[in-house]
Amino acid sequence: MSINLGFMCSGRGTNLRAILQAIKDGTLDAHASIVVTNDPAAKALSVAKEFGVRAVCIPSTGLSRGDQEKQILEVLETESIDFLVLAGYMRILSESFLRSFRDPRGFYRVVNIHPSLLPAFPGKSAYEEAFNYGVKVSGITIHLVDEKVDHGFILAQEAFPRFDDDTLSTFKARGLAVEHKLFPEVLQTLASGELSFLTRELVQLD
Ligand code: GRF
Repeated sequence: MSINLGFMCSGRGTNLRAILQAIKDGTLDAHASIVVTNDPAAKALSVAKEFGVRAVCIPSTGLSRGDQEKQILEVLETESIDFLVLAGYMRILSESFLRSFRDPRGFYRVVNIHPSLLPAFPGKSAYEEAFNYGVKVSGITIHLVDEKVDHGFILAQEAFPRFDDDTLSTFKARGLAVEHKLFPEVLQTLASGELSFLTRELVQLD
C-alpha cells in the first residue's frame, strides 16, 4: 500500500532528503505530496524542489501560532495526506492542529523524529544535552505525536554508542546517520500496514 506523506521542516532537510531518496529508490512505498516550512531560509525548500515536490513556506514570524497553523492546514487539506511527517520541525503544534490528523483508531497521524532515547532528553538540544551529560549510549526515537512535547507512542528506537574520544560533532554525525536510515524504514512499516494493530488503548490518546 502506498501512503501519501506531507512534511513539515524548519531547517537543513537532511532527513527530508533521506526519505525522498528512499521513495525515489523504491525502498519506501510512498508519495511525497508537499513540504511545508516555517522559515523562508530553510534548506528543506530546495531539497523539496530538487525532488520535484511541492514546497510552501508559511513563515512563523509575524503570525500568531493559531493563524500560522490555520494557513498550514488550508494548504495541507488539499493533499489527502495519510501521515504528516515532522522532519526537523522546530515549533510545537497545538492540539487543535493535531486534531485535523486524528485517525479513527484514536491517534494522530503525525510522526516525529527525536535525536535521543525518549523519555531522556526531550527538547530542542537533545544531542548537546546527552553529550554533555556524558551518556555512553544514546539513540534516535521515532514516535507518533501527542499533545505533549517529544512524547507519544514510540514506533521505533535505535541506539548508537558515544565513544570516549567523541566530540559533539562526531557524536552528532553518528546519530544523524542513524536518523537517515531509521526514518525511511519506519515510514515503510506504516506503508506496509505492519502497524495496523495501533489502537487508542495502545497509544493512550484521550
Ligand atoms: C534532526 O536531528 C531531528 O532529529 C531533529 O531535528 C533535526 C533535523 O535535521 N528533530 P534535518 O533538518 O533533517 O537535517
